[in-house]
Amino acid sequence: MKVSVTVNGVQHEDEVEPRMLLVYYIREVLGLTGTNVGCDTSSCGACTIHMNGESVKSCTVLAVQADGMDLKTIEGLATGDVMHPMQEAFRENHGLQCGYCTPGMVMAAVSLLEEVPDPTERQVREGLEGNLCRCTGYHNIVKAVLAAAAAGKTTSSVGAGS
Ligand code: FES
Ligand code: FES
Repeated sequence: MKVSVTVNGVQHEDEVEPRMLLVYYIREVLGLTGTNVGCDTSSCGACTIHMNGESVKSCTVLAVQADGMDLKTIEGLATGDVMHPMQEAFRENHGLQCGYCTPGMVMAAVSLLEEVPDPTERQVREGLEGNLCRCTGYHNIVKAVLAAAAAGKTTSSVGAGS
């Protein structure tokens, strides 16, 4: 079947198996390997991307279901060499260790701040509960998201590029 999508601003059209999951289309057909696969139960969130501006686990969607959609992956978040404020906040607050969960975590966090620009710590924890991290204990991830939210209050740039 044919699938036609825009990914990080670039139009793609490909023939795919009807059963191909979107995460494998992104990784194996488009070669965008920043989107990770961490489970086979739709529970880890390592595969989180934005689809028409909404955060989704790309292992829960068939590639053909994304036909006509506008997708953004972690590769599309920075502006040239300038990291997105959320990526910068993760770096500054040591919000990662092995980094496996990080692309999905960052994509989910960007969505969270778009919906709730000034969240409480509890709202951040609840907002990211679909994303699992095996390394950090979450403390620095939450700190990073709160820092990005605080920076957004002064620069209004947290949603930039998303
Ligand atoms: S790979 Fe999608 S939720 Fe784990
Ligand atoms: S940093 Fe290793 S899984 Fe989150």
